[in-house]
This record gives sequence, C-alpha cells and structure tokens, in this order.
Amino acid sequence: MLREPCQFVEGRAPAKVNLTLAVLGELAGGYHELESWVVMVDWYDRLELRASANLSLTVEGDTGHALPRTEGNLVWHAVEALAKAAGRPPTASIKLEKSLPIGAGLGGGSSDAAATLLGLNELWGLGWPNERLAPIASALGSDVPLFLEDSPVVIRGRGERVERLRNCWKGFLVLVVPSFALATREVFGRYSGGEIRRGENPAPWQNVGHDSLNTSQQLFNDLEPDAFSVEPRLARLHGLLDGLDGRPVRMTGSGSSLFALFDDARSAELWREEAVRLAGQTVEFRVVQTL
Ligand code: C5P
Repeated sequence: MLREPCQFVEGRAPAKVNLTLAVLGELAGGYHELESWVVMVDWYDRLELRASANLSLTVEGDTGHALPRTEGNLVWHAVEALAKAAGRPPTASIKLEKSLPIGAGLGGGSSDAAATLLGLNELWGLGWPNERLAPIASALGSDVPLFLEDSPVVIRGRGERVERLRNCWKGFLVLVVPSFALATREVFGRYSGGEIRRGENPAPWQNVGHDSLNTSQQLFNDLEPDAFSVEPRLARLHGLLDGLDGRPVRMTGSGSSLFALFDDARSAELWREEAVRLAGQTVEFRVVQTL
C-alpha cells in the first residue's frame, strides 16, 4: 500500500546475539545451512534518513576498525537495492552513527542495512510489508532478514527463513567484546563438521520459563572450535571466563564476541566486575538486555 512520503525518519539498528548456532551442512556458493536462535539486545547504531535530491552517507563514531563511508557500506547497497526494486531513484541523505563494533558477531552492518530498508520504506512512502522487503534483505547478506523483525527469531537455511518466537527466554547478557575482529568467511571456511557441540536439547528456545543458568547450559555454537583456531586469543579468553561463577560462556555468530546470560541486571553487573578483574582492560564488557 502506497503511503505519503515523509521528510525525515529516524531508525535504531540493534545488535543481535546468536544464543545457539547449529551448522547443519553445506550449501551452494560456499554457504552453510544453519539453524540459529537469535535475540536482539539494547545496544544500537542510529540512523537518520532525510529526503534529498541525491544520495549521500556520512558515518560517525569510532568503531576501531576501518569502515567504508560511501559506496562500500552495506547501507549504501541497501538504498540502491530498494530503489531498484521500487523502480525509483536512490535518493536520501543518510547519517549513520556507529556504536556497534565491527567483526564482533553482533550483526552491526546487517542491522544497519535492515534499518535502512525499513526507514526508506517510510521515507519514500512505499508502505511495503516485511515479506516484500525480505528478499532484498537476503540478497544484501545472510543476517539482514532477521533484523526486519523486532522479536527473537530462529533463522534457518542460509539465514533467509525467519521464524518469529512469541515466547522464549528473556533477560540480561554480559557481552565480552575483544579488541580484535574475526572475518565470518574465514571462520566458516575452517568449518569441518567434525566437532558438534549441540546439547541434548537442540531447540532450547522451546523451554519457556527456564531461568538463565538453565537456558545457558543448553546453548551451543558449532563455529566455536573454528573461531578459536583462527584466533587463539579468543580461545584463551573463553578458557578464562567460561564457568566463572558457574556460568557457561558462549560465542555469538562467527565471533569475536562472547556472552553469558543472567536473570537480572545486578547479577550481570557482579559477573562483569569479576570478569574485568580476570581479563583486564583490553576487552570491552557490556551489560545488555534482550528486546
Ligand atoms: O551472506 P554474507 O555475505 O553475510 O556471508 C558472509 C560469509 O559468511 C559467506 O561468504 C560465507 O563464507 C559465510 N556464511 C556461510 N553460511 C551462511 C552465512 C554466511 O558460510 N549461512
């Protein structure tokens, strides 16, 4: 349904955490078939989109890593892809304020791209339902479609099949973000299928009502051994923190961030303080809450 175009749209692009990640096999084009329970958390990049006669993008914020500030940015690609699908010129003046780290397994770039599609849908007055945005999102990257949703999801296939979860574990996480990034392609490239970490219950998102300790004992990430072999510093950090105060520590996506789950902000903060003492200042620890 076509809506009135508007002059200004503000968007928030949250981080994601893969609570589980099963690699089920190989797909064409060097991709892998996945099943992953993903939650969004309250740590955001911010986007401002303004009506304009041409396309411009400014990127603000210090992410510590090189980030394309023009054509190479996924936001730029999102504008061009949606404009092409809608048969209109790719015009907008966009400001992206980065807070989310790059190459950290938190999906920042994918989230920015999805927020761009959702924002332009309003700015241009397209009024498209998410189902119509989803194939464009999927072509931009495997993790982009999940960010069209505002609820926890299970993603399957390459990432393009997204199941919304009405009810699953919610709570607090301590994110452990090292100073080094990991390249998704490199980690997947090492996947041998050898080491399967799946627990007895491969679908812990169905255990509604379990507390954070119980839930975290059910979590797994099949890519951990590969990420740890690409980056031995991550293996050491995991070895240091896993089991601290009886909490399992898992990796999100293909790394480099780790996380632990908590029922309340106070216990998350206490664990964070202990972890800072152990791991030192070169690692960023951040308490976040599921959306
Ligand atoms: O889709 P995207 O470009 O974000 O994927 C980046 C890389 O991650 C791919 O080139 C591939 O190596 C790996 N990948 C994968 N299987 C997936 C998603 C990503 O092997 N389902």
